[in-house]
Order: sequence, then C-alpha cells, then structure tokens
Amino acid sequence: MAEIGTNIEYAKTLLEQGEVVAIPTETVYGLAGNALNVSAVTKIFEVKNRPQFDPLIVHVPDLEAAHEYTLDIPAAVKRLTDQFWPGPLTLLLKKKSIIPDLVTSGLDTVGIRCPDHALTRQLLSELSFPLAAPSANPFGYVSPTTPQHVNEQLGDKIAYILDGGPCRVGIESTIVGFENDIPIVYRMGGLSLEQIENVTGPVQVQAHSTSNPQAPGQLKSHYAPGKKVIIGNIIDLLQQYPAHATGLLTFQSDFNSPFQFVLSPSGDLEEAAQNLFTALRAFDKMPIDYILAEFVPDVGLGRAINDRLRRAAAVDSF
Ligand code: TXA
Ligand code: MG
Repeated sequence: MAEIGTNIEYAKTLLEQGEVVAIPTETVYGLAGNALNVSAVTKIFEVKNRPQFDPLIVHVPDLEAAHEYTLDIPAAVKRLTDQFWPGPLTLLLKKKSIIPDLVTSGLDTVGIRCPDHALTRQLLSELSFPLAAPSANPFGYVSPTTPQHVNEQLGDKIAYILDGGPCRVGIESTIVGFENDIPIVYRMGGLSLEQIENVTGPVQVQAHSTSNPQAPGQLKSHYAPGKKVIIGNIIDLLQQYPAHATGLLTFQSDFNSPFQFVLSPSGDLEEAAQNLFTALRAFDKMPIDYILAEFVPDVGLGRAINDRLRRAAAVDSF
C-alpha cells in the first residue's frame, strides 16, 4: 500500500525524481507526474493502464503559468479564468512544443487547469514544472474522491498519496475548448453550464458523443463501476427486478433498503455530486446484482451527475 500523508516536501522530491504521486484537487484525486518529462508521463499511463490515445490534463498554479505552455489564447479565456480559476474548469488551448506530444496524445491542444486545493496549489507553486494528472483510478473506473479510494486501487503501484481529505466538488472538471474563439463544452463537470454562460454567453455542448475525436476520453463507459447500472423510475424498476438483489441510488427518496444510497436527502445538487462516486464505489462491495438509479434534476451540477450516471450505465461501449 502507498503511504498517505500531508508531506508536501516528500511529494515534491518524488515528483522531481520523475515519480508519480497522487494529489488532492477540489474535484477528484489526480495521479500526478512532471508534465515536461516523458518518462514520468509514461509512468502515469502505465499505472492507470490507460491507452496512450487518451490525453492528460496539465495542472498549473495560475494563468501566468498557463501562458508558458500555450499559444493563441482566445479572449474569453481571461474572463473565464478571472472568474473560475482556481477551480473545476479545464481549458483546451493550443500547446507550445515544450508540452510533450505524449501528454496530448498527439493533439495540438492541451487541457490546462488550475486546481482549487490548498495543498496542491502550494505544491505547484514550489515546483519548476507543471503536473500532468488524470484522475487517480484504473482506466475506465470511477474517479477517486478520497485518499482511501486511491489506495484501494493504485496503492501497490505508487509510493505516496498526498492527503487533502475528501474532495469538495466530487466530480471532474468541466472541459471547455474553443472553435474560432467560440467556447464549446466537451465534458460537463464541477463548473455548471449556467456559470460559464453567465461569463461567455450561450455555449455549444458536445459532451455526449462517443466517437468525438476532440475528446478521445469521452468513451461512454468511462465511469463504469463493477455492478450493472440501470437508470429509470425506481418504483417501476423495482417491479422489473423483484427477484434480484438490487442497490438503489436515489437523489432524495428513502426506500428503507439496506442497499441504498441517497445522494442528498435535502435535494442539494452540490451535495449529490460530492457523494456520487463514493456511492458507486460502495455498491461494488455490496452483495447485489444491479444498481437501480434515477436521474437528478438536469440543471446546474445535475447535468454532470446525469452524464456520469449515463456513462456508468453504458458498460459495453468500448
Ligand atoms: O477534475 C479533473 O479534471 C481531474 C483532476 C485530477 O484534475 N482530472 C481528470 O483527468 O478528470 P482525466 O484524465 O481523468 O480526464 C481528462 C479528460 C479525458 O477524457 C481526456 O480525453 C480529456 O480530458 N482531454 C484531455 N486533454 C484533451 C485535449 N487536448 N483534447 C480533448 N480532450 C482532452
Ligand atoms: Mg478520468
């Protein structure tokens, strides 16, 4: 198992040696390595068992650092980063050649983000390089939102997990790219569409395609837990699956089942997002055959939650 602790100096030393370290962010835990070092980036792909066609996000301490690695920055970027950095917003920007092609899977854009977590911001400010960091889970599985989640799956492959406690947002960053300077959302995430549109005006969304060459990681089953997920009206689904042991994943309703997880009894979408991945992981350890789940309201963070539920339910799309 990996060591879990809050020793930033130790994390820094490992990263400077070209090793990978799990780091906390406000969204999910990341598996970080020196983004400018091809051997460190290769280790990230190996530890996650991630195909090299799926590009990584590069984490920076501020917008100034983002300028060191990117070109032709659209005007909307300054307005977006003024409002939302540090925070759950990843921007796809034209990369400078200092960013290895391996990081971007050969694309000419790089995903850049400034995470909002005190420990990781301090770490980034002390390092002389940015950190490439995908979510710290095996490829295709649910993202980790606690150090324990990381340790359970990657603990025997990495030396250190920087402990920043449970993630505040609980769902990955929103990914925004640009075409002719017009913003396009490629992945719904911890920053809502409404918040982005308040700054930029109406944006296009291209987040649900399974064969979108702009976002190769947007495979339908990207967030699959180990159990089969079926989405619908829970009461109807319970009629259809009476003979099976089922887990129930609801937004607010309490069915008094031992195998249920209520995302937010008070109906708060932020709380629901925080709990979603912990719930999906918890079901994996229960003696059930299926997870019966319902959509949450499709507004604000609800869109990102529903997107993850849809992907969790699509197990056979590789
Ligand atoms: O919240 C987050 O974004 C977390 C934390 C650790 O920062 N990271 C994360 O990384 O979710 P990952 O690798 O699990 O998901 C990144 C997604 C992938 O689906 C990838 O395909 C897409 O971002 N991506 C990265 N760079 C891209 C690029 N240049 N063009 C299109 N898609 C890109
Ligand atoms: Mg991921």
